[in-house]
Amino acid sequence: MSQDPSTEVVVRELRGSVLLVTINNPPVNALGVAVRRGIVAAIDAADADSAVQAVLIIGTGRNFIAGADIREFGKPPLPPSLPDVCNRIEACSKPVVAAIHGAALGGGLEIALAAHYRLAATDAKLGLPEVLLGLMPGAGGTQRTPRLIGAKAALDLMLSGRHMGAEEGHALGLVDRLGSSNDILADGLAYAQELLATHAPVRRMRDAHAVSDRQANRAAIEAARDETAKKSRTLFSPLKIIEAVEAALDRDFDEGLLLERELFLQCLDSPQRAGLVHAFFAEREVLKAPETRNTKPRAFNHVGLVGGGTMGAGIAVAVLDAGLLVTMIERDEAALARGRAHIEKVYNGLIAKGRMTPAAKAANMARFVGSTLYDALAPADVVIEAVYEDMAVKQAVFAELDRVCKPGAVLASNTSYLDIDAIAASISRPTDVVGLHFFSPANIMKLLEIVVPAKVSADVVATAFELAKKLHKVPVRAGVCDGFIGNRILAAYRMAADCMMEDGASPYQIDQAVRNFGYPMGPFQVSDLAGGDIGWATRKRKAVTRDPRARYVQIADRICERGWFGQKTGRGYYLYPDGARTGTPDPEVEAIIDAERARAGITPRSFTDEEIMRRYMAAMINEGANVVHQRIALRPLDVDVTFLYGYGFPRHRGGPMKYADTVGLPKVLADIREFAKENPLFWQPSALLVELVEHGANFDSLNKLE
Ligand code: 3HC
Ligand code: NAI
Repeated sequence: MSQDPSTEVVVRELRGSVLLVTINNPPVNALGVAVRRGIVAAIDAADADSAVQAVLIIGTGRNFIAGADIREFGKPPLPPSLPDVCNRIEACSKPVVAAIHGAALGGGLEIALAAHYRLAATDAKLGLPEVLLGLMPGAGGTQRTPRLIGAKAALDLMLSGRHMGAEEGHALGLVDRLGSSNDILADGLAYAQELLATHAPVRRMRDAHAVSDRQANRAAIEAARDETAKKSRTLFSPLKIIEAVEAALDRDFDEGLLLERELFLQCLDSPQRAGLVHAFFAEREVLKAPETRNTKPRAFNHVGLVGGGTMGAGIAVAVLDAGLLVTMIERDEAALARGRAHIEKVYNGLIAKGRMTPAAKAANMARFVGSTLYDALAPADVVIEAVYEDMAVKQAVFAELDRVCKPGAVLASNTSYLDIDAIAASISRPTDVVGLHFFSPANIMKLLEIVVPAKVSADVVATAFELAKKLHKVPVRAGVCDGFIGNRILAAYRMAADCMMEDGASPYQIDQAVRNFGYPMGPFQVSDLAGGDIGWATRKRKAVTRDPRARYVQIADRICERGWFGQKTGRGYYLYPDGARTGTPDPEVEAIIDAERARAGITPRSFTDEEIMRRYMAAMINEGANVVHQRIALRPLDVDVTFLYGYGFPRHRGGPMKYADTVGLPKVLADIREFAKENPLFWQPSALLVELVEHGANFDSLNKLE
């Protein structure tokens, strides 16, 4: 066995009579082609060598094996395939033990299931998360798992993609033994020795009887079908998973494997797989902003918040949940009491649902202090301003921060639209000023736009990324402009939606078309949820600077003038009788729309749902391209992640820019040019889009940071 252990991704070593097979493929021991070859070679060697009586498979680093190498998907396959590797392990003539620590996910768990015995350390995370990538287990997982733990538990793992802890896995029979120390190698070797000492036989799941208790397993299949129809009707792979598991109930093992392979390849070819894999890598890529590469973040433990309204209170919850200290400043005692009450309301809601204990709430609230005096912010390491969206008010707050905060404190604004460069320029320490644009409700929404003004120092930006990590947010770096990445693009596609409404589509049809595309809500439902008054105030603020030639749809103003701001006022675009959360269409709104069409001299025409989505997406993509072109977003994938985490964009489509690549940029550009015939001012093709089409390139070609 001539091997250089430092370069081999699969290292073999004889320990007594046990062949230790170590997977050493950082960072997560993914099953790339070299690993697959190495495992097969190791099993071949074990079978051939009479000195070997058992095989022990372990992983180096923090994980056992995180699964197939996702980067290989979509590329020409190289042998051996993962199913062949698993079959080879299972066929080994000597007992094979998998000793799992950290992640054994997807193909990683399938390797373990092909082994004859499984031991798991207490930190093990077992899962079949392929569904989250638009896939299904494709290396025997759909056949071995139900044979081992029954269809119900197997389907739960495969359809949720969740990680299961070692103890639960042990209770279910997914693993045979729990590790007793923190040393997976020692535990694994001891287990293998014990199996040899007791003459434990090789145990192959392929020989296990097709699942017993037919009735319960049938019921599990039907229940999974019903649940999938309700919850993930737009997704491709869940039904394939159910079909494959069903085959495990009544087909021979090899037939089941063949069906699994066929269905797996269908999933692999689906655009949903491409979209979900893009999302997986994109949400990791966004963490790699230039400022985070070689810069150490500043230390922080104490966060100041100015403003305890909707956003201030929500941010406070997120910060307290992360175990940090919060000092909140409000204008007066009454406002402070409201801010505190808002925080407590969130926690009380969680307690009522059984998701938080009163003791945990008390522990969080013990780290909360409120004050009406700015001087209370003196010890804060990071201060986040969340007062009214008004430049004068914000600058006055920053003047106070400049006065009281300690040197080195990070001074952040949660502004949605305002010019953070202007805020930074108004104080003596512009290098400490950054934008932290949270989304509402701030304790729930994952997106955090980190807005980088011209003068900010790199370690402040690195601190913002570190804060995002602590708060379990997904950070996206954005440049300064009106609305940054998300709200700026939102303004464009919302304008397209408003024009379609005035031209003849009802808001209800538009919302429906957008939902059918995969969004949880349409734009008019979102407006009703957020409160129409917010957009109304913005429109009034911008009225003076609006291009007089630009088309301006006044329907939203007419609705707001009546005091119909959406859910909080009981009506907006929809009616919400008796505090209903789901709206019903409002004939009076339809009458307002008709009147506005007449006033604007528009004869309404009909739109198909497909036409609606073409315009909606073309507006989003075009403005997305502008945002990338102007370096407001570093790459197209930053736009994608913004929309996946801040605006409910359907994840299986990967994000708007990925979607554009899927549709084809020439087609998107042709649409925009066609729409421009009606409104050339609005539908101006982005220079970047034109350039990419001219070069036959796509957005993905811009996704690497130079
Ligand atoms: N293939 C290729 N690269 C992978 C990978 C995989 N399966 N899993 C993780 N990586 C990469 C990440 O992209 C990241 O790369 P980067 O440093 O260049 O950004 C690096 O490994 C570290 O990953 P994380 O930042 O996610 O590390 P964490 O420690 O936070 O999480 C983890 C580790 C829980 C293993 C997480 O990475 C994860 O969930 N990975 C995906 C697991 C998965 O989905 N497996 C199923 C794959 S499909 C399959 O197996 C098909 C089979 O049934 C045939
Ligand atoms: P809000 O009106 O709910 O709260 C603002 C709070 O600031 C009020 O409680 C007010 O008493 C307090 N305040 C005003 N002036 C103050 C001062 N000088 N000192 C201390 N406190 C003061 O507003 P909301 O919605 O929380 O918005 C705050 C900021 O967050 C705005 O800049 C807004 O654009 C931004 N934002 C809002 C989002 C939303 O969906 N509501 C989403 C993302 C950002």
